[in-house]
Amino acid sequence: MARTLLIIKPDAVAKNVIGAIIQRLEEKGFGIIELQKMHLTRAQAAEFYAVHNERPFYHELVDFMTSGPCVPMVLEKDDAVPFLRETIGSTNPEEAAEGTIRKDFATNIQNNAVHASDSPENAAQEIAFFFGESAAG
Ligand code: CMP
Repeated sequence: MARTLLIIKPDAVAKNVIGAIIQRLEEKGFGIIELQKMHLTRAQAAEFYAVHNERPFYHELVDFMTSGPCVPMVLEKDDAVPFLRETIGSTNPEEAAEGTIRKDFATNIQNNAVHASDSPENAAQEIAFFFGESAAG
């Protein structure tokens, strides 16, 4: 079994689709190991997305991620990282496949409903960021 991190972003929380997204994840066979609702500070959002700090959208991304509460969670499944990336779909919802979470719940390329770790190494780091080293499994 492998673990990965998913964040239900502020746009999806504001749309009242936390439950609908969790239902999709459970139907796909993910177990929920940790989950919390929280409001990121600017410092936390800036650190979490530090890898993008040279990108033109970085400041808007930090504004968006701190615009309301989000719901980070640790998910567990065989091949959790690639399977979750497939389940959420492309970053841009216009390019996301039918039946993916972003296709059905995202608004645009920034307000795209969810984040998921893109590699096992980043999953371990991102899980530790929210839930501590011990949650990485
Ligand atoms: P996420 O998968 O969380 O990783 C980085 C985030 O930056 C991404 O989802 C979007 O929310 C945002 N993002 C990526 N590309 C763009 C873009 N071209 N314009 C605006 N926001 C973007």
